[in-house]
Amino acid sequence: MQNEKKKNGFVSGIGFILAAAGSAVGLGNLWAFPFKTSANGGAAFVFVYIACVILIGAVTMVAEIYIGKRAQANTVQSFKKINKNFGFVGLIVMAIPFIISCYYSVLGGYTLKFAVNSFSGNVDILPVFSTNVSQVILFTLIFIFISLIIVMAGIKNGIESASKILMPILFGILVFIVIYSLCLGEGVDKGLNKYLNPDFYAFFHDANGNLSFNGLLYAMGQAFFSLSLGMGAIVCYGSYTGKEIKVGKSVAMICIFDTLVALLAGLAMFPAIGALLPEQLNSEGGVGLMFIVLPLVFEKMGIFGSIISFLFFAMVTIAAITSVISLIEVVTQFIVQNTRLTRKKSSLIITLLIFAFSIPIGISLGRVGILEESGINLFGYDLLTFLDESSNTVLMPLGAFAACLGLGWIFGKKESKKDWFSIKTLSSNLKNDGLDLGKFTTVFAVMVKYVTPVLILILEVAGIITNVNTNKNYWFIVLFALLIITVGVIVYFKFFKNKELGDNALELEKEKTLEKA
Ligand code: PHE
Repeated sequence: MQNEKKKNGFVSGIGFILAAAGSAVGLGNLWAFPFKTSANGGAAFVFVYIACVILIGAVTMVAEIYIGKRAQANTVQSFKKINKNFGFVGLIVMAIPFIISCYYSVLGGYTLKFAVNSFSGNVDILPVFSTNVSQVILFTLIFIFISLIIVMAGIKNGIESASKILMPILFGILVFIVIYSLCLGEGVDKGLNKYLNPDFYAFFHDANGNLSFNGLLYAMGQAFFSLSLGMGAIVCYGSYTGKEIKVGKSVAMICIFDTLVALLAGLAMFPAIGALLPEQLNSEGGVGLMFIVLPLVFEKMGIFGSIISFLFFAMVTIAAITSVISLIEVVTQFIVQNTRLTRKKSSLIITLLIFAFSIPIGISLGRVGILEESGINLFGYDLLTFLDESSNTVLMPLGAFAACLGLGWIFGKKESKKDWFSIKTLSSNLKNDGLDLGKFTTVFAVMVKYVTPVLILILEVAGIITNVNTNKNYWFIVLFALLIITVGVIVYFKFFKNKELGDNALELEKEKTLEKA
């Protein structure tokens, strides 16, 4: 068995928590959360969001970490260890990090460019930069390259070390900017009001005053995306943890930290907008908030502006890097453990593929996404939105659903034939297997078996219906997701079901042989 010294996973509990928090804290928190909140009823949205984090996010995260931890192996093998016929889930969810990393890297390239460019001013550069194909590609490449270096170094020396350094820096910068922003004097309250004023009417109605559950759907989608759930990243990190990690406590800390950062991100922006550019408070969110409105605000800050701008975009870039490494790692882990390739080669190949796919996305974002000119598009969507919607609104919830299903309904079924259905059996099965959440074990069993999967399904179906009603072309997004699922199922049953798959121990063996050679 693995002893401490020989382990190839996280060395410390806090290292794991910071790495998982690093995966969780990303563009979702620093960018999407603030504008979604302000556009969907402020504190009303926050309130529902927190409920989603507790009822859906935390439960799924416990399930995912544990599925990885008990298998000590890549995502496919982790799901396969629940049941041989269930391994296909692992293969399907692994497609999601690949999709996300392709567009996430483009956005990472954007934030990197804005960080570097802070001292010469970022006002009005968005249309120029986003259509300058070679620049977009260059910055995407640099961004991907930094992430690659970290993944190449492995879990302990790469991901864990980087997270231990980068996460405190990120948090320090964020707190500093929040304080600065709150101290800007007159207008701060207007910004705060715009961000957090609780408005349940706005939460449940669309712009035309019709009843709408979009706010609810956004809150749930945001919780999945922000916590990196339903796509293998957390299963993968979980697989590199051992006895030293308390699953329940870790999940609580990761969720609290992720939500805190999201809330603070809005506090860094809205008060400053209110104080310095109040007329922009009602401008649209999206790409514009980060790349158009904030540069204008930073310019108004005078001499401090470039420094704050640099710190801000450096912080966002750091957050994006610690997220993308978890995406690359999911696929890398699988390749290292199931081919003869080394970690260095596997991550390099994957990163090259991601880079190749990011090029059309980068071009499409500048043309169709921001400028709305004709260019590369899929059924009227720019590529980024198309991929983002299919992973976030269709695939990730299904991935999370499958994780709950796996632990709540499939795991332990064989051993306890008679009574496997009951919550009592499930909690004692979980306890015997190693998942002990103290007095919460039974609560968790009820949640993972009934409450969370049902909530996910309701929201998923409601989400698809709402989206199709707003835009018929959304069917193509659903279809794309179905295509991925079908391919995943076929490939799994044809090639992987009866194949011996590698695990973390095998990866360690491989490393040792390499060291000796
Ligand atoms: N959680 C990250 C964010 O909030 C995005 C992400 C999703 C990262 C899935 C890894 C896996 O931006």
